[in-house]
Amino acid sequence: MENPLLHPFAFIYQLIQWVLSNLFSPDPPKPGAKLGRPKIAIIGAGLTGVSAASHCVGHGFDVQIFEAGPRKQLGGIWSRVNNTSGLQIHSIMYRFHPSVTWSGGYPNRQQIVSQITELWKRYGLESKTIFDTPVEKVYKDEKGRWIINDTSNGRFDGIIAAVGTCGDAKMPHMPGMEKFKGEIYHSSDLTGKEAKGKNMIIIGGGASAVEALEFAAHEEAKKTYILARSDKWIIPRNPVVDILLSFNIFGGETPFSWIPETILRKFFYRDLQDLAPTDKGLFTGTPMVNSDVMDKIREGKAEWLRGDIKGFTEEGVKFNLRSKGVPAGGPGREKIIKGDIVVMATGFDRPTLNFLPEDSFVDPYSPPNWYLQTFPPQHVSVCANNCTYVNAIGSVGNWHIGIYTRILLMFLSDPLTRPQTFWMERWIDMTRFVKRFAPTGAFDFFTYLELIWWFMFCIAINPFRWKWAFFVFFGIGHALPKSVVNAEDRIRNGLGVKIGSNYDVGKSF
Ligand SMILES: Cc1cc2nc3c(=O)[nH]c(=O)nc-3n(C[C@H](O)[C@H](O)[C@H](O)COP(=O)(O)OP(=O)(O)OC[C@H]3O[C@@H](n4cnc5c(N)ncnc54)[C@H](O)[C@@H]3O)c2cc1C
Ligand SMILES: NC(=O)c1ccc[n+]([C@@H]2O[C@H](COP(=O)([O-])OP(=O)(O)OC[C@H]3O[C@@H](n4cnc5c(N)ncnc54)[C@H](OP(=O)(O)O)[C@@H]3O)[C@@H](O)[C@H]2O)c1
Ligand SMILES: *[C@@H]1O[C@H](CO)[C@@H](O)[C@H](O)[C@H]1NC(C)=O
Ligand SMILES: *[C@@H]1O[C@H](CO)[C@@H](O)[C@H](O)[C@H]1NC(C)=O
Ligand SMILES: *[C@@H]1O[C@H](CO)[C@@H](O)[C@H](O)[C@H]1NC(C)=O
Ligand SMILES: *[C@@H]1O[C@H](CO)[C@@H](O)[C@H](O)[C@H]1NC(C)=O
Repeated sequence: MENPLLHPFAFIYQLIQWVLSNLFSPDPPKPGAKLGRPKIAIIGAGLTGVSAASHCVGHGFDVQIFEAGPRKQLGGIWSRVNNTSGLQIHSIMYRFHPSVTWSGGYPNRQQIVSQITELWKRYGLESKTIFDTPVEKVYKDEKGRWIINDTSNGRFDGIIAAVGTCGDAKMPHMPGMEKFKGEIYHSSDLTGKEAKGKNMIIIGGGASAVEALEFAAHEEAKKTYILARSDKWIIPRNPVVDILLSFNIFGGETPFSWIPETILRKFFYRDLQDLAPTDKGLFTGTPMVNSDVMDKIREGKAEWLRGDIKGFTEEGVKFNLRSKGVPAGGPGREKIIKGDIVVMATGFDRPTLNFLPEDSFVDPYSPPNWYLQTFPPQHVSVCANNCTYVNAIGSVGNWHIGIYTRILLMFLSDPLTRPQTFWMERWIDMTRFVKRFAPTGAFDFFTYLELIWWFMFCIAINPFRWKWAFFVFFGIGHALPKSVVNAEDRIRNGLGVKIGSNYDVGKSF
C-alpha cells in the first residue's frame, strides 16, 4: 500500500481495489478440492480466458483451458507484444477480474502479464491449462456434450471461446518494399530498435500508431510522420471523460452526439481540428485514447498525414496526400515522404472462430450478430467471451467478462433460464430494430452502458432468471438460486418432466 500522506490518490485507488477484491472475488478453490459439473472448456489463455476460468472454479465448476501457444504466451496478446506497449485507458477500466490490483493508473505490458499470471496461479489454474494445443473443431456427442477436437480431451457441458481480437501481426506487402534502404518493423516489434536522430514513418493511424509515436518520442527520433488512410477520433487520456463517453446508453450516434463532438473539437483538438473526422461521428468506431499526440504535432516533432500509400522508394514512401473529406483512393497531391525507419502499425489479424459448429455462422445471425453478441443462437452453451466485438467505446477487460461467464453458468445450471434459439434471434432482431438509425450495424458498435442494458434486459425478461440476478452481476449469492433449482428439479421430476439435472448424462442440450 502507498503512504496515504505522500500519495493520497494512489492510496485511495488501492483502497478501492482492496474493497472490490474482498467483496466480489470468489474464493479460490482449496487445493485438492473436487470441482463439479458443469465442466467448461476454455479456449485461449489470454486475459479473458484466465479471468473466465477463475470465475468458474471460484464458483465450484471445473474447467480445462486450451491454449494454442506455449507457456510463455500465457496472457495472450500482452505476452506477444514488446515492452513498448502499455495500457492507454486508465486501469480502473481494465479490472478484468475483481482480485486484480493495479499499483498505478497506466500499467505497462509486464505489469499486465504479471497480473494475469498471478490470477492464473491464485485460482490453481496451472494444472488445468494445456499449452501448445490449438483447438481446431468442437462438436457434440450423441448425448449433447461438447468434444474439443477429439474425444481424448474429455467431454464438456459448455464452451468459453476467449480467442481475443488480435492474432498475428499484420504486415501487408506494399509495392517496392524491398527497394527501401532503411529498416521496416511491425509496431509490436520495436523493443531495442534505434531511432535517435532518425526520421520515422508510421503506416496506419490506429492505437498502435500512437504507441509507435510514443516510442519515437522516447527514443528521441528527429521527426515522425504518421500516414493514415482514414480518420479516427482521438479522446483524452482521462478516466472521467472516457467513462462519461461510454455512458451513452443508445450505443450509437444520437441527435445529441454533436455535443461531445463539439466539446472535443473546441477543447481537445483546438488548433488541430483538421484531424478530427468529419465523415463519421464519435459513436461509430473505437476511438484512440491519447493526450500527447497533439502536443507532439504542435511541437513540430510529428506530422499526421491523411492519404494513400502508393508504394515504397529507396528513401521513403510515395504518398498521395488527401485533404479532409476526400475519401480513400480519391484525388490528392503526390509526395515522397523520406524516412530511415518505417513502422507498420497496420494492426493484427483476427483469430478465427471457425472451430465452432458451422450453424453458428448462418446469416443473418453470424457474429457479431449473436445473442448478447456472445452466444450463437444455435448454441446457448457456447460463450464467445470478448472476441466477437468490432468497435466499442467502453472499458475493455472488465466487469463484463465475469458477467458473461456467470450468464453461461446460469444457463448451464438452471434449465429454466435457458433461452431458445427462437427467442435469441428475436432479441437480435429487436436490437437491430432499436438501432436501425445507427450509421453502423447494430452490433458493429456499442458502448459499455448499452452492454449493461443488454445484461439487465436478459435477466429481467425471464422470471426464472430473477433469482440469479445477484450472482450474474456480482458473483455473489450462488447458494440461493442453486437450492431453488434443486427444488424446481424435484417438482419437475415429480411431474415426470425430466430435463437434465444430471449433467454427466448431458441431456441438458
Ligand atoms: C499492442 C496492443 C495494445 C493494446 N492495448 C489495449 C489497451 O490499452 N486497452 C485495451 O482495452 N485494450 C488494449 N488492447 C486490446 C487487447 O486485445 C485486449 O485488451 C485484451 O488483451 C484481449 O484479451 P483476450 O484474452 O480477449 O485475447 P488475447 O489476449 O488475444 O488472448 C487470446 C488467446 O487465445 C489463444 N487462441 C486463439 N485461438 C486459439 C485456438 N483456436 N485454440 C487455442 N487457443 C487459441 C491465443 O493464442 C491467445 O493466447 C491492446 C492490444 C494490443 C495488440
Ligand atoms: N494501448 C492501446 O490502447 C492499444 C495499442 C495498440 C492496439 N490496441 C488495440 O489493438 C487493436 C489493434 O490496434 P492497431 O492500431 O494495431 O490496429 P488497427 O486499429 O486495426 O489500425 C490499423 C491501422 O492501419 C491501417 N492500415 C491497415 N492496413 C493498411 C494498409 N494495407 N495500408 C495502409 N494502411 C493500413 C488502418 O487503416 P483503416 O482504418 O483505414 O483500415 C488503421 O489505420 C485495437 O483493438 C486497438 O484498440 C490498443
Ligand atoms: C522488458 O521489461 C522487463 C521488465 O521491466 C525486463 O525484465 C525485460 O528485460 C524487458 N525486455 C527488453 C527486451 O527490454
Ligand atoms: C487438435 O488437433 C490438432 C491437429 O491434430 C493438434 O495440433 C492440436 O493440438 C489438437 N488440439 C487439442 C486441443 O487437442
Ligand atoms: C518483440 O516482439 C516480437 C513479436 O512481435 C518477438 O518476435 C520479439 O522476440 C520481441 N522482442 C523482444 C526483445 O521482446
Ligand atoms: C473486448 O475486447 C476488446 C479489445 O480486444 C474491447 O475493445 C471490447 O470493448 C471488449 N468488450 C467486449 C464486451 O467485447
